[in-house]
Amino acid sequence: MTGVPLFSIRGLSKNFPVSRVQGGDGVNRALRGINLDIREGECLLIAGSNGSGKTILMKIIAGLVEPSEGEVLFRGQPLAKAVNSLRSSLGLVFQDADAQILGETVAEDTAFGPRNLGLNREQTTERVDAALQALGIEDKRDFPPRRLSGGEKRRLAVAGVIAMGCGTVILDEPFANLDWPGVVHVLEIIRDLKASGKTVIILTHELEKVLAFADRLAILHRGTLREDGAPEEVLERLKPEYGVRNPLHRYKTVRDCTWLE
Ligand SMILES: Nc1ncnc2c1ncn2[C@@H]1O[C@H](COP(=O)(O)OP(=O)(O)OP(=O)(O)O)[C@@H](O)[C@H]1O
Ligand SMILES: [Mg+2]
Repeated sequence: MTGVPLFSIRGLSKNFPVSRVQGGDGVNRALRGINLDIREGECLLIAGSNGSGKTILMKIIAGLVEPSEGEVLFRGQPLAKAVNSLRSSLGLVFQDADAQILGETVAEDTAFGPRNLGLNREQTTERVDAALQALGIEDKRDFPPRRLSGGEKRRLAVAGVIAMGCGTVILDEPFANLDWPGVVHVLEIIRDLKASGKTVIILTHELEKVLAFADRLAILHRGTLREDGAPEEVLERLKPEYGVRNPLHRYKTVRDCTWLE
């Protein structure tokens, strides 16, 4: 593969202080020397057990958290220099859907991103309508987001990112709280994003729902990148200690691993 990667993650570490009462040397090494290139247009799945470092890695890639060591390049430029182009081209769906609510109504909340990108009222309305429809929450458009159910809030978070039309989307546990139709809505969106050439990064341990769309699977384990490669190959090397269930125990091939029928 040629060209500058979309993201180059180099020697990335993140340490958090912990109370010595909790034992150890007073440091939680949440990420330990991660090296990873993410290429434009690929669908990368990052799996790993609870606390393996998925969310903190996403926050560092997005420029929301400073690493302790190492760096992230966006199109070959350090994040600090690329922050403006990154903000307009990266859509994030947070694991904590409540953290993302900004508007007083569902429609207003969804409009926040496109409006920030400088779209006019008409274009924004068009984007909002299409996104709410794609996520099956168009009947909630005038509803206060904080009173939505957990799954509806996640649908709203995905709608907001879709409405922005970003070239790169990072989805952190996008299936959490979703019912079956909700999972299908999100999978349809992932399929369409991929088909339109966008870069999709999905952090999840629910491989059986989405693996079919992945070009690449990476496994984080205790802050270390333990595996990275074609999904079939990584699954063959999967170790029980990673805490990631191998969906091929139930499904025949990687392409069967989707809830989209
Ligand atoms: N702000 C913070 N302060 C202190 N420790 C943190 C902070 N954020 C994350 N950590 C620690 O970093 C480690 C990795 O957390 P992270 O949220 O990235 O895990 P994860 O892989 O996303 O887990 P999950 O599957 O539960 O979402 C954990 O040990 C967590 O306690
Ligand atoms: Mg997480």
